[in-house]
Amino acid sequence: MTALPFKKPGAVFTEDSVAIRVDHVVKWFTLRHTRSIKEAVLWILRGRKNDLSDKFKALDDITFDIHDGETVALLGFNGSGKSTSLKMISGVMHPDSGSVGTRRKVAGLIEVGAGFHPDLSGRDNVYLNGAILGMDKEEIDAKFDEIVAFSEIGEFIDTQVKFYSSGMYLRLAFAVAIHTDPEVFLVDEILSVGDEPFQKKCIRRIKDLVRRGKTLVVVSHDLDLIMDICERGIVLEHGKIVFDGSSVGAVAMLRDRPVEEVQREQNERVERRLHWKRVDREKAAEEAAERGEAYVPEYDPELDDPADLDDPSKVRRTKGL
Ligand SMILES: Nc1ncnc2c1ncn2[C@@H]1O[C@H](COP(=O)(O)OP(=O)(O)OP(=O)(O)O)[C@@H](O)[C@H]1O
Ligand SMILES: [Mg+2]
Repeated sequence: MTALPFKKPGAVFTEDSVAIRVDHVVKWFTLRHTRSIKEAVLWILRGRKNDLSDKFKALDDITFDIHDGETVALLGFNGSGKSTSLKMISGVMHPDSGSVGTRRKVAGLIEVGAGFHPDLSGRDNVYLNGAILGMDKEEIDAKFDEIVAFSEIGEFIDTQVKFYSSGMYLRLAFAVAIHTDPEVFLVDEILSVGDEPFQKKCIRRIKDLVRRGKTLVVVSHDLDLIMDICERGIVLEHGKIVFDGSSVGAVAMLRDRPVEEVQREQNERVERRLHWKRVDREKAAEEAAERGEAYVPEYDPELDDPADLDDPSKVRRTKGL
């Protein structure tokens, strides 16, 4: 089942609004089987006939456009080709045939530790990774403290990153990527290695990007989150696109459930969440009033307009959020 490419209501997609074009991409990988010495000897004795390795198609004729301002999830079961597709878009991998074109500044998180050098300190890696993502030294200097504050790495910033835990890697990598201010932000599953507070912080930051109209391509198995942040969902199965439409439609397909039910549950979940957020704010405002203090809520991209951040009496942004 393939639906029509998803379009935001009211959005006009033209040739000029194409941010990323993935055109008939095919990617082969080699499966290297481990053979016994006996097998290898026989293979040599028989004149090295038949390759010891098999090839398989990880991406099989993938075609899609992503337009400015779209929020797109790449979905599918393990091994379906999501990370490989994202790597094509980020340019760390190239297709065997077909083409991938990006017309905008692309950055994000593809793999834990990608773009980091293990023997360098966190500090040096911020400069290295920032440069890879297109920032110059002055820009990194200006944002350095904010990057470190967001990562909450603290004194470990001067430790070689080979001694970092995977969560610490993620923290620093996410902090750098988010501060490069890309036009298209790519995020693979790796958020899941962060602890819960940090995940929440990243998700909030991603929702903020969505509110500001940034283009987003996300890979995740957290389907509820996907429906929160993405409007469009592309489902891959054995390297082929089997669905391209609304994220709710994609999730319904993966869960093998009627789309109306998935949509209703999603609406209920969002309403419940927003309701409790509002209740919490009211409570906090009452408590502040009792103490005779002014109450300025913390910025929440689900409740507030990013423009409100310009007025410190309306909302406040805690450091790095
Ligand atoms: N560098 C590589 N060399 C050989 N095979 C690879 C390589 N990278 C990925 N593959 C294979 O390609 C297929 C697709 O991998 P990919 O990482 O894109 O899956 P995925 O959809 O991201 O899965 P997951 O949900 O587990 O992250 C898998 O069968 C994987 O084993
Ligand atoms: Mg993956």
